[in-house]
Amino acid sequence: MSKLWGGRFTKETNKLVEEFTASISFDQKLAKEDIAGSLAHVQMLGECGIIPVEDAEKIKNGLLLIKEKVDRGEVEFLVEDEDIHMNIERQLIEEIGPVGGKLHTGRSRNDQVATDMHLYLRTKTTELITLVEEVQQAIIGQAKEHVETLIPGYTHLQRAQPVSFAHHLMAYFWMFERDKERLLDSLKRVNWLPLGSGALAGTTFPINRGIVAEQLGFETIYPNSMDAVSDRDFILEFLSIGSIIMTHISRLSEELVIWSSQEFQFVELDDSFCTGSSIMPQKKNPDVPELLRGKTGRTYGNLIGLLTVLKGLPLAYNKDLQEDKEGMFDTVATLEGSLKLLAPMIETMTVRKDVMRKAINNDFSNATDIADYLVRKGLPFREAHEVIGKIVLYSIQSGKFLLDLTLDEYQQFSTLFEEDIYVVLAPEHVVAVRNSFGGTSPEQVREQIKLAEGKLEQ
Ligand code: ARG
Repeated sequence: MSKLWGGRFTKETNKLVEEFTASISFDQKLAKEDIAGSLAHVQMLGECGIIPVEDAEKIKNGLLLIKEKVDRGEVEFLVEDEDIHMNIERQLIEEIGPVGGKLHTGRSRNDQVATDMHLYLRTKTTELITLVEEVQQAIIGQAKEHVETLIPGYTHLQRAQPVSFAHHLMAYFWMFERDKERLLDSLKRVNWLPLGSGALAGTTFPINRGIVAEQLGFETIYPNSMDAVSDRDFILEFLSIGSIIMTHISRLSEELVIWSSQEFQFVELDDSFCTGSSIMPQKKNPDVPELLRGKTGRTYGNLIGLLTVLKGLPLAYNKDLQEDKEGMFDTVATLEGSLKLLAPMIETMTVRKDVMRKAINNDFSNATDIADYLVRKGLPFREAHEVIGKIVLYSIQSGKFLLDLTLDEYQQFSTLFEEDIYVVLAPEHVVAVRNSFGGTSPEQVREQIKLAEGKLEQ
């Protein structure tokens, strides 16, 4: 089959070269975007009198026909035509005859492919924002049920202070909120139009890039044609945001894995989100959060992969840039799959309040509060810390917790202790008095959830 660029060649392309250089196996995902870009381009060519308006109309109709065929899965993409751009151009010429060959006037595949990528990421970024919001909704749903449910809060994975379970969950809401902001902000740069830059230097035809930008809904036109065809930082940015989102998903997944272990039993994932073992009949494995955690690795790989492709790449277009696609598609698919699973997994999990409660009753996570108690009675914090440290040691040695000690025992360590110490030590009290803005008291957590709901309504 003759190549669309075959004029200066005397030999057929080596088969291996053809397969090695072709991108059609993966860039066919860009068919819709490619056609949209072509429709805007040809409209502009007609309006600017670069090709006759009748020809532009014929080409548009041809492109629309191909679009329908693509939607119906009727187009056969050929490796011989290398990539999505030449596959569609060939289809067009077959469909409407030689006039189809006018479409590529004043354009190069270099500005064309960059435009396709911008269009694709714009759609995907917008869709992903919605998926992130669904996870946020699921988090709020559980949080609302568990404002008063107490769970040990950890630092160093050691019991630190009790917190509201809603507060713990809501921490993830805000991570995803920032992710959403990042995605939204990245759209500013995704919305730069490369088309009209030609191969690298612009074009001799009197094009109007404004018409194309308007048709395609781009806010900014790349002011430098060389930058336009070689820029991929909008993809780097997406891969980086995607990696951060997966990091957040992975941290939450890790907590779910830990919480659903026999040792913790704080939550039970729904049966429909777990799998069994082929040998051990008793097993119910948290495969989904494990795999979410594991899939994070490939998104980092995709980011590092493209960073490496771009590093040291001279201007302007180089074939290396074709390597921008598979990683991006993979990160999109990974994010879509992960976010779609995460929301219902959170919604359907059972929170074991009773187990959490038992844990709280059997630890020293109220120790800070007796230190604060002594401080309020006038003791310097550093001294109070020392006294309580001794009390904790004494309790451990006598197999008791702080609520089990008698007032006599307390008074042996400090005469400042009075009967009201037991009020201060109650876990509900410990949580309720952390009433500073952003703190874990039920009052603050309710405010926080309100704030979060406001964010989702925006
Ligand atoms: N398939 C190519 C890519 O994805 C399209 C641009 C090809 N341009 C070229 N001059 N070979 O990068």
